[in-house]
Amino acid sequence: MGTNNGKTAKVAVLVGSLRGGSLNRELAELAVANAPAGVQVEIVEGLGSVPFYSEDIDSPTELPQPAAELRSAVERADALFLVTPEYNGTLPAVLKNAIDWLSRPFGEGAIKDKPVAVAGIAAGQYGGTWAHDDARKSVGIAGGKVVEGVSVSIGGAYQRFAEVRPGADAEVVAQIRHAIETLAGDVALVA
Ligand SMILES: Cc1cc2nc3c(=O)[nH]c(=O)nc-3n(C[C@H](O)[C@H](O)[C@H](O)COP(=O)(O)O)c2cc1C
Repeated sequence: MGTNNGKTAKVAVLVGSLRGGSLNRELAELAVANAPAGVQVEIVEGLGSVPFYSEDIDSPTELPQPAAELRSAVERADALFLVTPEYNGTLPAVLKNAIDWLSRPFGEGAIKDKPVAVAGIAAGQYGGTWAHDDARKSVGIAGGKVVEGVSVSIGGAYQRFAEVRPGADAEVVAQIRHAIETLAGDVALVA
């Protein structure tokens, strides 16, 4: 498991929070640190610099550099891992914007046919399941292959991580390890 016909499987991680002390960023870093052998996990930086999607600037002459870099990072990857909180009952705009950029050109966006898993931490008791369900719906429509076997929505963030950070929570680490292994397993199936 975890290899793409003997090659290293690459997983690009998009984080839905731009906050310095983001718990979801820490979750993404756990995915990097707990990648199985043969799997390289990298966080895609700079999502906050990607302009809001507009067809006016989505052209070879106008394409903003941060959007081009986002597309290249995902094109180089075999799979995507979305790690996000919930904002007002759905996914944060920064993540939705990234998905919109990755969905174009229509039918051949960088996300096309790539396995995508979703996880995250949120304050509410349901752990951001609305955001995670909406993210799965959106990436599926954008052309990705949603990995249904991954369901990580960790709730009660303010209490649970008041003193213990996600990386020191054995259950969280186990969930992230399982998520990355499952995602990598899908890369092997798709390859
Ligand atoms: C604008 C905003 C909207 C939020 N809406 C929700 C929500 O709908 N459901 C929820 O569980 N938490 C909500 N929260 C709380 C976040 O889940 C919590 O702040 C979480 O720690 C943010 O993730 P981060 O630590 O990665 O930045 C919201 C927070 C912000 C800033």
